[in-house]
Amino acid sequence: MSSTFVPVEPFEIVVFGGTGDLARRKLIPSLYHRFCDGQIPAQSKIIGASRSVMSRDDYLEMIQTAYLQFSNDDQFSEEKWASFCNLVDYVSVDVTKDDDWADLGKALDKSNKLIRVFYLAMPPGLFSDICQGLKKAKLAHKQSRVVLEKPLGRDFESANEINEAVGRVFSENRIYRIDHFLGKETVQNLLVLRFGNVLLEPLWDKNSIEHIEITVAEDIGAGGRGAYYDKSGALRDMVQNHLLQLLCLTMMEAPGSTDADDLRLEKIKVLRALSPIDASNVKEKTVRGQYVKGRVKDASVPDYLSDVEFDESTTETYVALHAEVNNWRWAGVPIYIRTGKRMSARRSEIIIQFKPVPHSIFGPEIKVNPNKLVIRLQPDEAVNLWMEIKEPGAGGLRLKTLPLNLSYADNFTVRYPDAYERLLMDVVRGNLSLFMRRDEVDAAWRWCDGILEAWESTGQPVSYYPAGSDGPDAADRMLAEQGDEWSAI
Ligand code: BG6
Repeated sequence: MSSTFVPVEPFEIVVFGGTGDLARRKLIPSLYHRFCDGQIPAQSKIIGASRSVMSRDDYLEMIQTAYLQFSNDDQFSEEKWASFCNLVDYVSVDVTKDDDWADLGKALDKSNKLIRVFYLAMPPGLFSDICQGLKKAKLAHKQSRVVLEKPLGRDFESANEINEAVGRVFSENRIYRIDHFLGKETVQNLLVLRFGNVLLEPLWDKNSIEHIEITVAEDIGAGGRGAYYDKSGALRDMVQNHLLQLLCLTMMEAPGSTDADDLRLEKIKVLRALSPIDASNVKEKTVRGQYVKGRVKDASVPDYLSDVEFDESTTETYVALHAEVNNWRWAGVPIYIRTGKRMSARRSEIIIQFKPVPHSIFGPEIKVNPNKLVIRLQPDEAVNLWMEIKEPGAGGLRLKTLPLNLSYADNFTVRYPDAYERLLMDVVRGNLSLFMRRDEVDAAWRWCDGILEAWESTGQPVSYYPAGSDGPDAADRMLAEQGDEWSAI
């Protein structure tokens, strides 16, 4: 099966933080891939911007080196890369210098006809200054939009300040708050799975579902980004955004359409219905963990402190939560969420554990396992519906649990575009569906703030887990108290 690509309108994108990690590893390679597939018209412009003073040639060399280092694919061709580079420019911008803003203006399209995108791939503390600089230099015209990379603040208050500052320059429908999980193929498939099939809907509630697990496990550590990560921790870095988005897509009502506001409205309702976690229940409902040294994929790895080069830290690299969505559909259904660094494997999945049959006709000796729907987001993308079937053969009735397997690898041969490829093109097309509205970010922060404050006020310690394990024992105990257990990673 092959994909077809519809070219977008010609555009210009200014990547602030153009020399940074995200730009070099993801944004530039994503633009290159879209260019190779013929989606980016040749009149478009890609402008790297950062404080570093360097020539365009040096910038081109920097992004090529990074591409070859990080993009482990067969998409590189000298010829295509050279044509792509014709679109690329570099401008050094110190936000405090008017001359630098003027230089950026000179690099932009004079006719003001191109769609203009400002991508802020830098710490959120700089968002306000950049937006003010754009306003003062009159670079933000009617066709322009701004993309805000996460983290969007570190709590509701700081996110609110950022949103206010950006909102003074860009109206809400021109602000693209990115959560790259929403650009992943399999995350979008959640919508299709739920709302493109009639089979699941009648079972999708508290009457048939016993509990839900959402896991985003990573085998990498926090090393290399210690300065950011240690101030953030797993709750802010992963739960406030990626995991809550997965939760929303799993639990929301059917939106009227895939239009941005229809979708976002339903997601916000889920976030607002999340049962608060505060000092009164934080101990039973949450586990914070931090990895100590261990082995991942047969290699010894150091503990978190050595990884981030700190002498001490109580930052969580793992978090497990017992959440609940308080509404008619979901009341009382436990939603177990966990994410961690340096776990046994890289695996993201959503598991819908159905209730057992109400009565077994096979008698007490034969175990009838309840059905389970496993939506594997990465790697080995697949949807597996585990069912009971009769094991063939004589000698008595035996049941076997086997999956109906909808594996992506078995059914599709297309390259899955990186999440950023789709999201960048959506920004150019003006499609906000996969971006977060301000009130969505607010609601997610308010819920997470409750947990963060409760951890602080109760002094909840981190539980240690060996690198390469599936997390601390305390997380197993949290589920055991509900009579449940985590699925293996
Ligand atoms: C980022 C987090 O948003 O997502 C990282 O800051 C994390 O800590 C990453 O590793 C995971 O994304 P992916 O696409 O590699 O699963």
